[in-house]
Amino acid sequence: MFLIQCLLQKHAKMNKIVLLVHGGAGPDSKFIKENIAAYNEGLEEALNAGYTILEAGGSALDAVEAAVNYLEDNEIFNAGRGSALNEKAEVEMDASIMNGKDQSLGAVAIVKNVKNPVTLARAVMEKSKHTYMGGAGAKAFAESINLEMRPEEYFITDHALEQLQEAKEENGEELEVAGIKQRSHGTVGAVALDKDGNLAAATSTGGIENKMEGRIADSSMTGIGSYANNKTCAVSGTGDGEYLMQNVMAFHISALMEYKGLPLKEACSYLMHEKLKDVKGDMGIIALDAKGNFAMEYNSARMHRGWKTSDGEHGVKIYE
Ligand code: GLY
Repeated sequence: MFLIQCLLQKHAKMNKIVLLVHGGAGPDSKFIKENIAAYNEGLEEALNAGYTILEAGGSALDAVEAAVNYLEDNEIFNAGRGSALNEKAEVEMDASIMNGKDQSLGAVAIVKNVKNPVTLARAVMEKSKHTYMGGAGAKAFAESINLEMRPEEYFITDHALEQLQEAKEENGEELEVAGIKQRSHGTVGAVALDKDGNLAAATSTGGIENKMEGRIADSSMTGIGSYANNKTCAVSGTGDGEYLMQNVMAFHISALMEYKGLPLKEACSYLMHEKLKDVKGDMGIIALDAKGNFAMEYNSARMHRGWKTSDGEHGVKIYE
């Protein structure tokens, strides 16, 4: 009896744990429709990878990294293996991670050959004297700390090659942002709340197909692609990077909460559907506060997303 009471008390004191993941917001496509089961399975597996860590008492930071690592390794998503290809049919990846406990952050851009760019972003945060690294220097740093590396062929999938081919064949029919034709987005991200009340966010992408060599995605920019602050929220963004950058998406939500006192759901809904209602680009966000309230808002045809909480809320969705 005493033991049961102790367990009940312990459980009552445990904070809510939550993990949200996304696999990109953007237009619908034949490929997505034909692969709904594989996408849902991937989102579910990403939730499992991160939630297992939270359930075992692990940190929000470890959980978001594990969930994003899974999505980077799953070639159906546009991050890590399966990344969108640039105009030269090469892979250049961007990622960021942020710890809501102390606002420490790490980010990498134009990364090549690193199997898990978000793990490199975390290493920049924890093992280098810098915050944001790119290109050859970031790759050399990854090699110096023995991160897993892969040859270029590992990252390039048939689907990414087809997407690039289609993008090159299209002329003027697609949405243009900053001169770049954009069609689909499969950026991945995760936000988590751990048992100690800490928030974290992580985002990773191969960017947009047929991008110019050297183009950098919002996903690597903390405050835009990722943001986490225990006092407000953790956010991971997806969609047309150029618009997300213009509107400083992730930090904007935190600022609405901190400066205007808006609850998380209202802040997300206001930003996406009122303040930015006339923005023509696709945008999506997953967001979570330290009480475990969460929101998943997008203005596009679909956003691949999943959620799991210790209150028993659990699901994956692509459309409404
Ligand atoms: N949001 C991802 C990108 O623009 O590449």
